[in-house]
Amino acid sequence: MKRELALEFARVTEAAALAAHKWVGRGKKEAADQAAVDAMRTMLNGIKIQGEIVIGEGEIDEAPMLFIGEKVGLESENKELFSKVDIAVDPVEGTRMTAQGQANAIAVLAVGNKGSFLKAPDMYMEKLVVGPEAKGVIDLNKPLMENIDNICKALNKKLNELTIVILDKPRHKTIIKELQDLEVKVYALPDGDVAGSILTSVIDSDVDVLYGIGGAPEGVISAAVIRALGGDMQARLKLRSEVKGVSLENDKISNYEKTRCEEMGLTVGEVLKMDDLVKDDEVIFSATGITGGDLLEGIKRRGNIARTQTLVIRGKSKTIRYINAVHNLDYKPDDIKALVK
Ligand code: FBP
Repeated sequence: MKRELALEFARVTEAAALAAHKWVGRGKKEAADQAAVDAMRTMLNGIKIQGEIVIGEGEIDEAPMLFIGEKVGLESENKELFSKVDIAVDPVEGTRMTAQGQANAIAVLAVGNKGSFLKAPDMYMEKLVVGPEAKGVIDLNKPLMENIDNICKALNKKLNELTIVILDKPRHKTIIKELQDLEVKVYALPDGDVAGSILTSVIDSDVDVLYGIGGAPEGVISAAVIRALGGDMQARLKLRSEVKGVSLENDKISNYEKTRCEEMGLTVGEVLKMDDLVKDDEVIFSATGITGGDLLEGIKRRGNIARTQTLVIRGKSKTIRYINAVHNLDYKPDDIKALVK
């Protein structure tokens, strides 16, 4: 993938974040998601790539997704010359936070060579993520506490020096308590495990580990960025009935999930290692803050002037860039202007 594409993808998440930002605090999750999806699609269709969306969102809750299998990229007679890439998107990672005006919402995408990302259905996934210093010591087949001990050894830390991020969901209540009883420091984030995963692998964060059950699409995006940053991740697909409890509705969804997994050649419950999730390092990742958080600053806007902060990572060189941009929304192309102003 050409290096210059990194800036193109940064422009995509900037536009998605600007579009979603218009809906911050308005209580309308779907509207925020739709605006970001539309902005992302418009921007992706202006880039010289032959792209395919392999990870989208919304199969289960029917959110307005950039759908799996959708082709994106500039239409051109010369398009055979453009890079063939697979794209994993989450136009708004943190729809609830956006709608409620809370911290940590970001617009994200990861781009890899054709065939490099796991094609996973929209279901739950158990995730264990660490930074480069603990690469190679995690094993989801072993109990969590054994993993925690091994991570401590690799980092040369005591339990009370370890920091772990877990989504603050009822399903994690017991684990959070167990870890806190061991004096591990737990950051329980209301939402957003992509940002939580990234915090394990960037220098300006004290987070060592992310653990917990979240979305599978977010899991593949996390794996892409963690691979790009040189960290490590293992994961396991989970049926909704295992996560939310058995009920008629969850049973129905779980049957559908099982069928989708079979169609995609995946086994529910099998441990997926980094190479299963993302095949090579040649990944470009971009995330733009919508609301301010631990990873990125949120959008600041005064009239039609808006400031964005974007994290762009090239897996091949492992360069991490923070791009601060000031946008004059009056000068955006008409289709983007309609979404962001
Ligand atoms: P969306 O805003 O994209 O829906 O995701 C937010 C999120 O917290 C993810 O980071 C996480 O993987 C997933 O939701 C967890 O799902 P649930 O809200 O069902 O527990």
